[in-house]
Amino acid sequence: MAGIPHLQWSNSISVRVDSIDAQHKKLFEITNRLIDAFEAGSGDFLEVIGELVEYTTIHFHDEQMVMMNAKFPGLAAHTAEHDKFIAKVEDFLQAYSEGHKDAGRTMLVFLKDWLFAHTSDLDMEFAQYLAKKSAK
Ligand SMILES: [Fe+2]
Ligand SMILES: [Fe+2]
Repeated sequence: MAGIPHLQWSNSISVRVDSIDAQHKKLFEITNRLIDAFEAGSGDFLEVIGELVEYTTIHFHDEQMVMMNAKFPGLAAHTAEHDKFIAKVEDFLQAYSEGHKDAGRTMLVFLKDWLFAHTSDLDMEFAQYLAKKSAK
């Protein structure tokens, strides 16, 4: 089976807030470690998912604070997306712990695709808002 490609952060998805960019890079790094743990069939898989969920929760909170301070009008909708993601991962973890081991790959692919799409698409709406605001 072909390997799951790693996530790669690049300047084109910078939100132009250094602390948030640093968190996105770290999220991608943990996700890549999770892919490696999964592919190695290592017992670290659940541990690394725990680390990823914990760091994602911190990141969502910090990002929402930055958005709130910037009076971003999309904050409520954005927060709802964050909450939906956490709920979905918790559902996967529940299924996985109940013995549905095939949930592992599905969960991993969902996590990785969601994190990349959210960061490079929805988080960028905030970056565009900031850019417009500073141009005023
Ligand atoms: Fe983000
Ligand atoms: Fe976000």
